[in-house]
Amino acid sequence: MSRGGVFLGYHFIDEDGSFVLEEPDNSSYLYLPLVNPAGVMSSITPDGHGDNKLSQDEFLLPPVSACDLHGQAPSRNFWCYIRGYGPWSVYGQSAAQESRRYTDHAEPVSMTAGPFWQKIMRTCPETGLKAEVLSFCPVTDTKAELMKITLINEGDKPISLVPLTAILLFGRGADHIRDHRHVTSLLQRFRITEDGIVLTPSMTFDERGHQVNRESYGVFARQDANRHPDAAIPLVDDFIGEGGSLLWPQAVVHMKQNDLWKSAGDHAEGKEGIAALRFAEITLQPHKSTSFQIVMSYNDDGKEYLNRERMDEAFLQMKEYWSMQKSILFKTGDSNFDFWMQWVTMQPQLRRIYGCSFLPYHDYGRGGRGWRDLWQDCLALILNDPEQVRGDLLSFFAGVRIDGSNATIIGSRPGEFKADRNEIVRVWMDHGYWPYATIQLYLDASGDYDFLFEKNTYFSDSQLQRGELISKKQNLTPDHQLMTKNGKPYEGTVLEHLLVQQLTQFYDVGDHNHMRLRGADWNDALDMAADKGESVAFTAAYAANIGDMAKLLRHMKEHKKTDKVWLAEEILLLLEVKAKQYESSDEKQQILKEYCEKTGSGVSGKRKAYPVEKLASQLDWMSAWIQNHIRMTETVEDGEGSLWFNGYYDNHGDPVEKSQDGVRMMLTGQVFAILSGTATDEQVARIARAADRYLYDQKVGGYRLNTDFHETKMDLGRMFGFAYGNKENGAVFCHMAVMYAYALYERRFAKEGFKVMKSLYEQSADFDSSRIYPGIPEYFDPDGRGMYTYLTGAASWMVLTVMSQMYGVRGYKGNLQLLPQLLAEQFDRDGCASVTFHFAGRKLNVVYINRNHLEVGDYEVEEILLDKTKLSFDFKKPEIKRELIKDLSKDEIHKIRVILQ
Ligand code: G1P
Repeated sequence: MSRGGVFLGYHFIDEDGSFVLEEPDNSSYLYLPLVNPAGVMSSITPDGHGDNKLSQDEFLLPPVSACDLHGQAPSRNFWCYIRGYGPWSVYGQSAAQESRRYTDHAEPVSMTAGPFWQKIMRTCPETGLKAEVLSFCPVTDTKAELMKITLINEGDKPISLVPLTAILLFGRGADHIRDHRHVTSLLQRFRITEDGIVLTPSMTFDERGHQVNRESYGVFARQDANRHPDAAIPLVDDFIGEGGSLLWPQAVVHMKQNDLWKSAGDHAEGKEGIAALRFAEITLQPHKSTSFQIVMSYNDDGKEYLNRERMDEAFLQMKEYWSMQKSILFKTGDSNFDFWMQWVTMQPQLRRIYGCSFLPYHDYGRGGRGWRDLWQDCLALILNDPEQVRGDLLSFFAGVRIDGSNATIIGSRPGEFKADRNEIVRVWMDHGYWPYATIQLYLDASGDYDFLFEKNTYFSDSQLQRGELISKKQNLTPDHQLMTKNGKPYEGTVLEHLLVQQLTQFYDVGDHNHMRLRGADWNDALDMAADKGESVAFTAAYAANIGDMAKLLRHMKEHKKTDKVWLAEEILLLLEVKAKQYESSDEKQQILKEYCEKTGSGVSGKRKAYPVEKLASQLDWMSAWIQNHIRMTETVEDGEGSLWFNGYYDNHGDPVEKSQDGVRMMLTGQVFAILSGTATDEQVARIARAADRYLYDQKVGGYRLNTDFHETKMDLGRMFGFAYGNKENGAVFCHMAVMYAYALYERRFAKEGFKVMKSLYEQSADFDSSRIYPGIPEYFDPDGRGMYTYLTGAASWMVLTVMSQMYGVRGYKGNLQLLPQLLAEQFDRDGCASVTFHFAGRKLNVVYINRNHLEVGDYEVEEILLDKTKLSFDFKKPEIKRELIKDLSKDEIHKIRVILQ
């Protein structure tokens, strides 16, 4: 991030961001995702732990949570029974190796990893046998994880050994890790083939209705020169022996005496499974090697990779594929930061695949993504290629209800929604905020204002009146579509959906005339104040959306040369309101109720034209009213110069941060007061001072989410039940911390914003403390450890903040704006900082040149050269017209040199 950098623990070795980590087994909880476009979702630790699945109901390896990663033998193992020495595991996963790990004779282990592959190198010092274990998924439509094991004799004597795999076969859904685990093992049916073991359970177990099972799970292996395994054991009990363990299995320890080995054509059933595949004894001469190809797959997929050349080829293809996915590359004065950012840039893609479930820390949910995450994950994707995201964005609007609430869980198909994964009636009051924030970015990046006039349906189910009423009579369509009185699905424009979301929120207020907290806001753990709770934080956030929509409407008026928008006639009820009524929360709730009742059982289907200017003025008014109301009522001061905004009211209707019991401060309220423009510039400076004083803690990555309330606040949310400093209760929660930085930059407080970003980066990259691979975690625990790695909205916001705020490279009404806020220390020794990315379908490389190493605030954009052509621009808002970029050729990278003076 700045010249100098931090201690990483690992070191980057190539342009792909691959890195080497010595002794990875000395750190806990490390895991890497292995993933492919066919939907294989795997995780792997340096010692073979982790699982592999296609969905909640299809786990090939047993499901694991983070705490299982070190507690039991791993799902993947490979043994060598070395003559004259005994059993040795390539992952160090034998009882003997485990016990020596803690002595001076620990075996040397090293790991190299990249997106998304891992290679472990381990040597047995006594024999000179070295093993390299490579793991990855092919990037085809093959549902498989591949493993290549290379054994090398680095000693000076021949080594004779019997090699064998020991890979657990779970073959059922994650629920059965506890729910009827034994009973479901009775369904297991194993078949030994010439390459491996195939498990096809007789049925899928579900007490609501058992089904015939059609899925099979298999492990296959071959040695170089097409050698097949010569024997197999499919049952764990037989493999470990009576009283045995996976760390010292009797089938390995007493290999020759064991008569339980089976051959191709044999069967077994009714017990927990393992793919123990044994090869014939080999002798490795000094400096010679041999390798084994192992395929773990679904329905016999991927057997073509049981061949060394094919597997090597697949590995190269996979590296190229993931390298091509990285379409934003930063170059600052700190190459470690640049590589680290490459990993952060990949994280939103991982969440697209894994959702918020299916990695060891993310041991909740059943797949699919939540509404909020769905929209935010698009932020980074929009920066890459807005056109590619357009269809998804449009389909998401089918999840909006006409009352402004929405379905919360998104299935795997576009446009597939469910009300809630637990069938709980719950309204998150922030959900209406994110779509507009995302669409604004999309419009700025693409200039595609026609998108606002695209149409989609509304979601309709039994939840009415923003979750207040459950209808038993509701006439539900199979597709959950809102119908008109004439029985046709009603379709409204994107613009109308967005308006509905903001307008209904405006009226959904509590006693203090701020928006009701309802089920929670962004902070999922503020879930116990549904009756009287209010979120001032998100009231400010919506004020910004409402005000920005007014600007958008005026821009569209120019753009489309239309001065009317067509809205469902019922919506007009939310627009024809007298200013006086805004002052009364009761009147607002009454208006909302009336609107919900009118639309609850369908809409008339009639649309009315509404003048754009009238609509924009109305929205301006609403936005200004909210901001003024918050400014007047919600500031808190400590009497020593610091100021912050009270962000919440609890279920007793009391303000949370205006406390008599010492300072109580929450970051979220500050972020949205700043970002929305509710806080004045002078107030922003004082908020930053308060955050430095009450929330900043350098050893855990910077700005905490809140101070310690020393109270289990049962009238606000479960977060107060968490030990302080963890997750939503006072951890440095990266998502909100990055948004704090984003808000500060947006208000041109670049040095303050940089401090937030630098703390997050340094904590993530300080391996000694964070113990995570490159990337940003969800939060840092009280010891500074990175938690919930990979699947976090923090990544999208990090990419967005670095790109559009630090570098100031962003779309603005379809043009490319260049407003850097980089600090002097972020430029390299020559005064350069660059970013390569796509815009308007062209590949661009923007290089900022700050020859005199001027500090932010002291420089301005003086000159812009596009492929050597000097451009004229407005010094206050330097930008390049979209048409100019569109005229560039598609097949080369175009350089934009920006001189700062
Ligand atoms: C997680 C959830 C996100 C929620 C946040 C705070 O954060 O996925 O929806 O807003 O907790 O409760 P994330 O995974 O984005 O870091």
